[in-house]
Amino acid sequence: PNLYGAARPNAAGWDLYDPVVLQSFEEARAPFQYATWSAAPMAVPAGVNGATRTVVNPARPSDEVGAVIDLDPASAGAVVDAARAGVDWAEPRERAAVLRRAADLYESHAGELFALCAREAGKIALDAVSELREAVDFLRYYAAEAERTEPAGAGVVVAISPWNFPLAIFTGQVAASLAAGNAVIAKPAEQTSLVACRAAHLMHEAGVPHAALQLAPGGGEVGAALVSVPGLAGVAFTGSTATAKAIDKQLARTSPDAFLVAETGGLNAMIVDSTALPEQAVRDIVASAFQSAGQRCSALRVLYVQEDVADRLMKMLRGAVAALQIGDPWLVATDVGPVIDAEARGRIDAHIEVNGLPVAGEGLFVPPTIIDIPGIEALDEEIFGPVLHVATFRSDEIHDVIDAINAKGYGLTFGLHTRIDDRVEEIVSRIKVGNIYVNRNQIGAIVGSQPFGGEGLSGTGPKAGGPRTVARLARRAARRLPA
Ligand code: NAD
Ligand code: ALA
Repeated sequence: PNLYGAARPNAAGWDLYDPVVLQSFEEARAPFQYATWSAAPMAVPAGVNGATRTVVNPARPSDEVGAVIDLDPASAGAVVDAARAGVDWAEPRERAAVLRRAADLYESHAGELFALCAREAGKIALDAVSELREAVDFLRYYAAEAERTEPAGAGVVVAISPWNFPLAIFTGQVAASLAAGNAVIAKPAEQTSLVACRAAHLMHEAGVPHAALQLAPGGGEVGAALVSVPGLAGVAFTGSTATAKAIDKQLARTSPDAFLVAETGGLNAMIVDSTALPEQAVRDIVASAFQSAGQRCSALRVLYVQEDVADRLMKMLRGAVAALQIGDPWLVATDVGPVIDAEARGRIDAHIEVNGLPVAGEGLFVPPTIIDIPGIEALDEEIFGPVLHVATFRSDEIHDVIDAINAKGYGLTFGLHTRIDDRVEEIVSRIKVGNIYVNRNQIGAIVGSQPFGGEGLSGTGPKAGGPRTVARLARRAARRLPA
């Protein structure tokens, strides 16, 4: 039982602004400040690639976090074969009970998971707490969905996740696929195999059979090898639009009746008109664009400010951005941690330079950056980091702005700050995105209350943390991404 009743089984989370909670957070994490972890393929009959990779903290390369052995892509077929024995691994009620036990185990291992999120993925304290809370929510929500919909497993599902939500999205994909009765081969992002491995062990400890959940560490080549094994029931994917398209093509060739559930990138905008409350808008812009160092698919990329208030708002915004603390995510005062790796840093720096601004910061720390642009049409792709593009508009141009946003073909999140009710209704009916946020920030969707996912190039649906996911993952057929 909880405050919201069975329909809203969200985790309590950790309020880090409460000094007592903050102290227990620090104490829970402390034993893991110098710990190391390892990850390797699980339950594989043969075939690791032999080489061991060392994982280092993106904030501090001298901090070794652990070691990973990747799957040999040539063993992908053997892994899928081994998983076939795990399909329909328990009755729906038993699946639900196991997933709920996993949620409890995640909570009792909070400190270790917080430490892994910080040291392997560069997550600031606030983000590590959200990661755990969302992962626990996914486990309990999809458990309830297994009971409600009582699906029979569709077969072997490959779950491919990104590094930016290494615990939450990894867990969400796996939990939904398992709740549906499938056997799952989880291929975490190369950058965040350790936290994924720890999570998979906790699910096994909760009672998920080894055949029903296997971990397949490795990079894109391991993902590509797994999705090309014939006879898959489907693929649950979260990552870039380009990778989703490649998987879609591969499935059409080798598993033509498989499903692809893909959650991909966005070019997310926010409109702030002259009636918005500036203090609130600034707070929500900063969180939307710069929390998690901008490494969220939901993050704000293009801010449109009404011309009449632009000078004042931008002055306040630049002040707020200058006050952000950039640094080691282990310190709770840090607002902006590192970006994930040198490749990401290189891509972000190249974009900043091409727009005529100097790059700054050291190591993987990219200072929050604001770039003026004429409009969203100036951007071709998502820049996955702490970079906010700003354009202005006149009141009579607001429809053109919405049309320009829609014309990009993405459709993930959208933010609106206004105090005109009619404008809210009109824009909400016109904008083509999955998640719209009015007079608040546009990140951090809550499982169950705010199912999350996009349209067009941003994803196939169904929305994660919503009532259609588990039932969808129990059925083959249907892949659809725009060309
Ligand atoms: P990515 O597409 O490069 O990688 C995602 C995963 O796909 C990784 O596990 C990677 O190893 C694997 N992969 C890469 N190539 C593959 C291939 N050919 N076949 C199979 N698997 C392959 O994305 P990324 O850079 O790790 O993640 C960031 C992207 O994810 C951004 O575009 C972001 O917007 C998106 N994202 C979307 C959501 C959402 O819910 N819509 C959530 C988080 C991240
Ligand atoms: N669900 C994550 C968010 O809303 C991606 O920010």
